[in-house]
Amino acid sequence: MIPKSFIQDLLNRLDIVDVIERYLPLKKAGANFVACCPFHNEKSPSFTVSQSKQFYHCFGCGAHGTAIGFVMEHAGMGFVEAVEDLAKSVGMVVPQEASNVPQHKVAPDLYELMQTATRYYREQLKQSPRAIEYLKKRGLSGEVAAKFGIGFAPDAWQNLISAVANYQDASLVETGLVIEGDSDKRYDRFRDRIMFPIVNVRGQVIGFGGRILDKGEPKYLNSPETPLFAKGHELYGLFQAQKSIRAHQRVVVVEGYMDVVALAQHGVEYAVATLGTATTPFHVQKLLRLCEQVVFCFDGDKAGQKAAWRALENSLPHLVDGKRIGFLFLPEEHDPDIFIREFGTEAFENELDNSLPLSGYLLRELTNQVDLHTQEGRSALLQKAQPLLTAITAPTTALLLRKEVAALAGVTQAELEALYVIKPVVPPNRTAPPKSKRSTPSGLRTLLRCLVIRPELARELPNDWQGEGVEGAAIAALADWLHESADETSTAAMIQHFQGTVHEIIFASAQGEAMNWGEDFNVAAEFAGSLEKLHDESRKSELEFLHSKGLNALNEQERARYLQLLQRGQT
Ligand code: UTP
Ligand code: MN
Repeated sequence: MIPKSFIQDLLNRLDIVDVIERYLPLKKAGANFVACCPFHNEKSPSFTVSQSKQFYHCFGCGAHGTAIGFVMEHAGMGFVEAVEDLAKSVGMVVPQEASNVPQHKVAPDLYELMQTATRYYREQLKQSPRAIEYLKKRGLSGEVAAKFGIGFAPDAWQNLISAVANYQDASLVETGLVIEGDSDKRYDRFRDRIMFPIVNVRGQVIGFGGRILDKGEPKYLNSPETPLFAKGHELYGLFQAQKSIRAHQRVVVVEGYMDVVALAQHGVEYAVATLGTATTPFHVQKLLRLCEQVVFCFDGDKAGQKAAWRALENSLPHLVDGKRIGFLFLPEEHDPDIFIREFGTEAFENELDNSLPLSGYLLRELTNQVDLHTQEGRSALLQKAQPLLTAITAPTTALLLRKEVAALAGVTQAELEALYVIKPVVPPNRTAPPKSKRSTPSGLRTLLRCLVIRPELARELPNDWQGEGVEGAAIAALADWLHESADETSTAAMIQHFQGTVHEIIFASAQGEAMNWGEDFNVAAEFAGSLEKLHDESRKSELEFLHSKGLNALNEQERARYLQLLQRGQT
């Protein structure tokens, strides 16, 4: 765990303009800086950076965050990675909060060792006509082989002896390159195999996949989990594909090493592969951060179908409204490698364009399993859909799918939600009277804009403050944060704190709206004014409500309240 205070210190120390300029040039425009957005394709710049508030916001695609968020999105790094990277850039050392999880120390020389092995295997490929012939037969050019650093491990037990200084060094076993046999005899893990280096997003080799040249078992041998390599976190080809993924705003996830390189060979450079494991939630999250559309394209066999369903299940919690997830089912006996070689690039991309949307796939599978003409079937549908629908947190997607499943089962959305004991996505219309100090969303919006630019103003909200809707809830959460834990109240600290919460999006859009306020705009006065107006509005609407009941019909308590409100209006 990285201590929160360190994150705040780091954000204070960095200048987001410098950080972003390492990746793309910014131009001064009024109080802010602008550029064409690196996260979607555009001709005129809507990507805006506030230097005074230390955050960026894209008015085109909604990308939003701090310097840390930018590095995560732009380089596809995880949070810890991004913090380490940025800390290093300003000479800070990331402290570790004591935790009971044992820390794996990754000595830099493990990375070096992997690099040495990669170089060695590449060298061996050049010297093996048999291996070169194999790759040629599979349609690969030298250029693509080089791009992916493909190599060859000769058919001998201790190849690496000639590549490393000390074959007995513990690091060889730690990286999984060498296996310690009985009676301390050591031997290479990879022998007589085409070697695919697995590279992390920083370009470091962290593992290998090795394919047998001829027939043999296993067909692919992968590095084991090591201090460098966690399978569920890594995707083969992501490092090479990053640029193309961003340019196309699309990534296609395939099953195999050969699929990735064959697609690249045919110009589809935005493909990545899972590493002999199912698609994990971590994978999905990582990819959705990078682009608009993720297409899963698995083999047209039973295993492929199963992999697709697992990918669907693991995607549900990470769906983002507006981003698309598609599924492409190739004909049986086909994988992406065979398909693109047989039918060509255009046909493959055409298939991607027409991939089955996640919602369509989900409904198709569910309805295939039951008979909707019977009550039992409709009941089974509701049961099967429950874990899937309840896993979705993206509001619009959740709403639409609940409506569809409800309709298919012949119940209302409200009945479905009651059955599953889940909160309605859209709260039903309120018929109850407005409570004291509740306010209308439109006025709240102004209040919210002031607060996201000057979060410390939330300290001036009355203790029993309440507001309606998402704005109201977000403001309440902000006030809680300020009262309970914040010792730093900058906008950047706030963005970082609410990252990944339900309030993130509402804060982001309000920050976007407020970021063009000039430096001399009096936020505090605007805040005070809108707070006052809100109080006034809520007083009026409560008065109106009591009035509409008829003054004679009021009970004692209501009458007292009525008088109180009237008096307050006169002072
Ligand atoms: P496939 O057998 O479908 O691979 O396994 P492929 O890429 O089509 O193989 P080629 O075209 O015959 O070379 C898909 C993926 O599953 C993992 C590997 O990651 C492989 O790329 N796998 C497969 C293993 O880990 N071990 C195996 O023995 C087989
Ligand atoms: Mn294949």
